[in-house]
Amino acid sequence: MTTPLYKTLNTGYHMPQMGLGVYLMAPGQETYEAVRTALHLGYRHIDTAHAYQNEASVGQAIADSGLNREEIFITTKLWPTEYGEQESQTAIDKMLNRLQTDYIDLLLLHQSIGDYIGAYKGMEAAVKTGKVRSIGLSNFEDERLDEVLTKADIKPAALQVEAHPYFPQDDLAAHIAPYGTVLESWYPLGHGDPALLNEAVVLKIAERLNKTPAQVILRWHLQKGYIVFPKTTNPVHMAENFNIFDITLTAEDMAAIATLNSGKRYFTMSMADREKNFMAYVPAD
Ligand SMILES: NC(=O)c1ccc[n+]([C@@H]2O[C@H](COP(=O)([O-])OP(=O)(O)OC[C@H]3O[C@@H](n4cnc5c(N)ncnc54)[C@H](OP(=O)(O)O)[C@@H]3O)[C@@H](O)[C@H]2O)c1
Repeated sequence: MTTPLYKTLNTGYHMPQMGLGVYLMAPGQETYEAVRTALHLGYRHIDTAHAYQNEASVGQAIADSGLNREEIFITTKLWPTEYGEQESQTAIDKMLNRLQTDYIDLLLLHQSIGDYIGAYKGMEAAVKTGKVRSIGLSNFEDERLDEVLTKADIKPAALQVEAHPYFPQDDLAAHIAPYGTVLESWYPLGHGDPALLNEAVVLKIAERLNKTPAQVILRWHLQKGYIVFPKTTNPVHMAENFNIFDITLTAEDMAAIATLNSGKRYFTMSMADREKNFMAYVPAD
């Protein structure tokens, strides 16, 4: 395996382009074991969120890993119920405590609802005090994205959205590039959709390169310049997903995978339902 890739963010910090996502991992042993295994395999980037309720397990696994904190890149996310300029700063202090760290590498606003402008100001304040190194957005894709991009003193370092070969987000990536904002792909493997993993185009490339379909799709994300953090608790999949630094997809491979763009999204909740459902969920401290 050759060296994992890094991206330089618009803040100057380096972020491993490949990490582990811990969405839907149970707090406690499941998350703890997954993060310990990932760090052992060479992963140095973990994507969590307050809403996932497993930040404390991520923090414990990192603390017990014996690795230097500076070697690991932690992303977490503020939930809309803790938005607001003051509220978000209080929430950040609680995050630092749960994660057992004195800084967060990348902090995102998880959803584009509620007082997101106030929360963004709170994140900017946390950058100034050194509690947070880089800030960004998640699930901002409409005029609210432009509102933050144009108003923010500190431009978002990253935008985390649904992205996979069925919905490659090329226009959005081009739209944010002038701000130095990088695109992060969630549901990079289509949330494990067997239809995506068994696409003939992907199988053919995988066979030629002697890799699995998941490895080909993850490599596609990297070569598009996207940040990626597939979720798995299976150590075999975890090792497999990290073993993608020794192949290069050709321009023909990239073009072949681009033909899978069907506009299909897995997450289709309306903005009205997001406002209603997300504000009703209050993650525990
Ligand atoms: N910001 C947001 O709103 C948002 C939303 C969703 C997700 N995310 C982030 O994105 C991360 C990834 O998203 P996700 O977990 O939902 O989707 P995903 O990574 O696309 O898919 C995960 C699924 O793929 C399977 N899988 C993983 N590696 C595999 C492999 N090598 N071969 C076959 N199957 C494999 C996993 O099953 P096994 O466990 O059996 O391997 C799991 O069921 C999350 O953990 C989270 O950090 C963010």
